[in-house]
Order: sequence, then structure tokens, then C-alpha cells
Amino acid sequence: MTRNETSKPHWRPAHEADLSAIVAIAARIHPDLPERPEVFAEKMRLCPDGCRVLIANGAIVGYGLAHPWMQHRIPPLDAFLHRLPEPADCLYVHDVAVLPDHRGGIARAYLDDIGRLAQSARIAMLALVSVYATRPLWERLGFRAVNADAELRGKLASYGDSATYMLRDVAATYRPARFRLTRP
Ligand SMILES: CC(C)(COP(=O)(O)OP(=O)(O)OC[C@H]1O[C@@H](n2cnc3c(N)ncnc32)[C@H](O)[C@@H]1OP(=O)(O)O)[C@@H](O)C(=O)NCCC(=O)NCCS
Repeated sequence: MTRNETSKPHWRPAHEADLSAIVAIAARIHPDLPERPEVFAEKMRLCPDGCRVLIANGAIVGYGLAHPWMQHRIPPLDAFLHRLPEPADCLYVHDVAVLPDHRGGIARAYLDDIGRLAQSARIAMLALVSVYATRPLWERLGFRAVNADAELRGKLASYGDSATYMLRDVAATYRPARFRLTRP
């Protein structure tokens, strides 16, 4: 393997020991949407397969957090999930955040992993809340904005004015991943 290949950013599963790096990146990228470290830790515990970190030159430079959930329901920011729905009808992408110097093809790679994970778990939909005018980016990755009813709009409020709830059908897109969703 060449030096270039080893330093190429890649996603790997997040571990408990990665929490402080994740929290530091979140504080830098999302200063207006703060969440407690325990809230991140709970997601990593409930859905280790959906929570991944981006490694570049041996350092954590980004993270992605996703977990099974129900369509049209939005977990409030900075709140505990307590337990995952069983059965779930979507994988909810809570956040993908990457330090500016390492962006480019990164969200696509994470969503590929999450799409395959969904397929393995026989979950047909990915869901997320787009913030900071990222809607065109998510549309490029196959998500479509959903018309929010009053209840959904109320839940979106904590994510800021530009927040948009989006869904992506992955049923026909991916072959199952080699990993399966594990539950605590
Ligand atoms: C969101 C984020 C993770 C995206 O990372 P990234 O590596 O730049 O994303 P990608 O390059 O994989 O982008 C995915 C696709 O969207 C496209 N895209 C990127 N920005 C776009 C834009 N403004 N409009 C339309 N398409 C866009 C990319 O070209 C790519 O398409 P392609 O693979 O066909 O070329 C990164 O910008 C980030 O950390 N932002 C701050 C945190 C944030 O906003 N997170 C999302 C919260 S909802």
C-alpha cells in the first residue's frame, strides 16, 4: 500500500474511546446545535453499526451517527432515545460532520455504508433532517424533502429555520452489507 493510500480518509466503526474526538468535532461544526456527550454515547451504545468515525492520517476528522427509527418522527436534539423501535421502518441519520479540510466524497461514502446496513436489516428507508442549507447535497445523494405536517414542523423547530425532513428509498439500491445491525 502506498503512503497516499494509507492517508486516504476512510470510515471505521466508532468506539467508546472515540467519544471525546466526536464531541470536539461536534462543538466546532455545530456550535449552535449543542448536544451532551452522553447523548452521543447513547447512540453509539444503541447502534454501534450506524456510528462511524472518519480517519485521516491516523486522526479522527469526522463522524456519522445513524440508528433505526420510525419515519416522520424526529428525535429532539440533545435528548436520549432510551430504546430503539422494534421493528423500525427507517435508519435515521442523526448527523454527518467532517472537518473542512477533509470533505469531498465523504458523505457519499458514509451513506453507502448506511444504505447497505439498512438493506441488511431489511429497512427500506433512510431519513434525516437537513440543516444549514444542505438540502441540495442530500438531494444529490437521493433524498427527497417530505411535506411536514404540523407535528413534524414542531419537532423540526429545534433544528433551526432551514431544517427540512428528508427520506431516501434504498430498498432497490444496495446489496446487503457484510455487517448486520447489532442491538444492545
Ligand atoms: C455534510 C458534509 C458531511 C458533506 O461532506 P462531503 O464530503 O463534502 O460530501 P460529498 O462530497 O460526499 O457530497 C455528496 C454529494 O453532494 C454533492 N454536493 C456537495 N455540496 C453540494 C451542494 N451545495 N449542492 C449540490 N450538491 C452538492 C457532492 O458533489 C456529492 O455528489 P457527487 O458524489 O455526485 O459528486 C460536510 O459538508 C460537513 O461536515 N458539513 C458540516 C456539517 C453538516 O452540515 N452536516 C450535515 C447536517 S444535516
